[in-house]
Amino acid sequence: MKQRLQNMNVDNKTVLVRVDYNVPVQGKVILDDTKIRGSLKTIEYLIDKNCKVVLFSHLGKVKSKEDFMKNSLAPIATYLSTLLGQEVYFSKENFGAEVVDRVRKLNPKDVLLLENTRFLDVPKKLESKCDPQISEFWASLGDLFINDAFGSSHRKHASTYGISEYIPSGIGFLMQQEIEMLTEYVLKAKKPFTLIMGGAKLDDKIDLITSLIPKCDYLLCGGGIANTFLKTLGFSIGESLASTSIEIREKARDILLHNKEKMKLPLDAIVGNTYDINYTKYKLIDKIEPNEMILDISAKTIEEFKPIIEKSKTIFLNGTVGLYENPKYANGTKELLNLLKKSNANVIVGGGDAASSVRNLGYESDVTYISTGGGATLEFLATGELPAIENIPEEIETLDI
Ligand code: 3PG
Repeated sequence: MKQRLQNMNVDNKTVLVRVDYNVPVQGKVILDDTKIRGSLKTIEYLIDKNCKVVLFSHLGKVKSKEDFMKNSLAPIATYLSTLLGQEVYFSKENFGAEVVDRVRKLNPKDVLLLENTRFLDVPKKLESKCDPQISEFWASLGDLFINDAFGSSHRKHASTYGISEYIPSGIGFLMQQEIEMLTEYVLKAKKPFTLIMGGAKLDDKIDLITSLIPKCDYLLCGGGIANTFLKTLGFSIGESLASTSIEIREKARDILLHNKEKMKLPLDAIVGNTYDINYTKYKLIDKIEPNEMILDISAKTIEEFKPIIEKSKTIFLNGTVGLYENPKYANGTKELLNLLKKSNANVIVGGGDAASSVRNLGYESDVTYISTGGGATLEFLATGELPAIENIPEEIETLDI
């Protein structure tokens, strides 16, 4: 395990913490606070140790100054104040003399959140390109750096990685929990191990499938991912979403060729039509018309998945098998979650959409673990590594600074 926060001497220090507060926000309302709650243990630990805590996070993609208003972390500071039961100071600046001054004026136990790190991406992508000057400036603000932003750790940015090049660094409690749970339940999965993959695009997930398929006993597919496999097998999928990349189709062909016994693709579907929003039909998978779009799986597919889910000891769910946000196409996802609820397997959910579907459809208490990561979870499971924490040393002995 990488250097853990609890084994570092943090008492009375100024500690810089990278959290992942990239959460859905509408106006000032936080629609899902899971990641914010996930950071509390680390922050509360540091407050307890009389630290001055400086928090860094990004929020959304920031491409121009027009994005500044909707991507400000100000509402998150207010929300975090309520969760912590103490004021969280907010700095509109995240670079320069004013920030130095704000940090200098902090008292022990104070918490300061700096404005969205990606505001420095306009115009020069300083955060995303891990600019050394920005990294060094941020590092100069504190004694120690703690990375607790599991969800952002597939990216080597100035705030996730750069700071760790300059000051002693470790990982926070959320990062530790994610690594432990994903290692224990997925990388060392009890067998039979079933991977259920859905979601829109195979392109983002093909590497995860390629690396996990040798370890799993079954791969059940739905959503756009299944469409690409179906198309590769020669099925007509009409207007359904599927990968257009030749490289991805080649990889899909390879997976199909070598894993015939493990893979289960949809046998039937609920389809829509691009030109008529009221059009909804049940179709067998070999009867999709040119103007139809596969938008959910249906009864025959669920029946096919059922015995596999029943005998599995570990199930990793990524993505959704239908367009569940639309009630007309939510049934497949609900039926699947019902099967997972009844199963005796350890059910691990990874990736933003799968996690949201589990929460929004009310199955949160029926699964073993929901990861806070999207891309980071996929990266970690595919490679066993998280690029942002590369610099953080393995834990050998207590660090005494
Ligand atoms: C996430 O929500 O997956 C992380 O916060 C990473 O966000 P990003 O894809 O904008 O880097």
